[in-house]
Amino acid sequence: MTFDISNIEQQSQSLIQEAEGLISQANSMDELKQTKQDLMGDKSPLSQMHRKIGTLEPEQRKQIGRLLNEVKERIDGLVSKRREELEAQESLGQRQESQMDLTEVLLFSTSATAALGYLTRGHMHLVTQTQIELEDTFVGMGFFVAEGPEVETDWYNFEALNMPPDHPARGMWDTFYLNLGAPESILLRTHTSPVQIHLMESAVQGEDGLPIYAVMPGRCYRRDTPDARHIPVFHQIEGLVVDKGITFADLAGTIEAFTTAYFGSSIHSRLRPSYFPFTEPSAEFEITCTICEGVGCRTCSNTGWIELGGCGMVNPRVFDAVGIDSLVWSGFAFGFGIDRCAQMRYQIADMRQMLENDVRFLYQF
Ligand code: PHE
Repeated sequence: MTFDISNIEQQSQSLIQEAEGLISQANSMDELKQTKQDLMGDKSPLSQMHRKIGTLEPEQRKQIGRLLNEVKERIDGLVSKRREELEAQESLGQRQESQMDLTEVLLFSTSATAALGYLTRGHMHLVTQTQIELEDTFVGMGFFVAEGPEVETDWYNFEALNMPPDHPARGMWDTFYLNLGAPESILLRTHTSPVQIHLMESAVQGEDGLPIYAVMPGRCYRRDTPDARHIPVFHQIEGLVVDKGITFADLAGTIEAFTTAYFGSSIHSRLRPSYFPFTEPSAEFEITCTICEGVGCRTCSNTGWIELGGCGMVNPRVFDAVGIDSLVWSGFAFGFGIDRCAQMRYQIADMRQMLENDVRFLYQF
């Protein structure tokens, strides 16, 4: 831009307009710095105009000097305003970058699940899901849910259940002992049956009293060598009914009602004579094979039935141990594996997968 004193006003205006355009187009601090340099630096038209002021008459010099100072201030103002805008944008960008987005699921994914492309919202383990469904089924049949300790004394796990020391039936449960011997052995419970004793004791001593209609889910421990159908830490759900006039027919009917409610109307139950020290008579209960629906297949050894758990009428000697009069009261009990239930319902080939925490397995449920 050449400096023509005759239309200095107009030139200042267009300089300001040009500056407005250039400054608003500067999209970073560096760009803005460059623009400012172009507009106000030594080689800028504004500086050139300034330099020529010296050649003017004093009167003009004053007038034009003021004008150019106004232009300079205007441009300065525009630059500062743009700098503030850019600073605000930059810090917003930084904040957005450093902010944690709680809805961003993949942030929390393990590399394994990310590779598979699964959404990795956590969910309940299959065994927990199964436990809750089983509880719901029994609650729907009028039972309440109770729990007991996983660390037990010998008395609750064995003796009160009609297994005095050296009783051969203790061999049915490969026990983890925490403290073997005097004054009393402490162990990890091998089944949920000791919770029956706790419940009956508190019914006799406490306010709840009899009758009892309860299910008791929980973790159990056995010194089993793990294989496709056995894991050393597993889950059982125990059932106990104590009332007046309870018969074996009530037991069989309860098991059949539960089986069809949980597995579906095509799955039924049957009882086979068996032995447990704490029930008399005792039975093993089987359900229709869930794989072949009773036709016969490899899983059920072509019988069409699969064993689920044990059951029987509460042995009067157990009632004696807790102080319930077996001439007045009778009852039945049952117990079966929660993991086994899930294994059968979802046709899981190897029970050990329940413990491996392999997300490819877990995310199927
Ligand atoms: N506690 C037995 C077991 O673990 C199962 C059972 C429970 C049997 C209740 C009869 C009555 O094998």
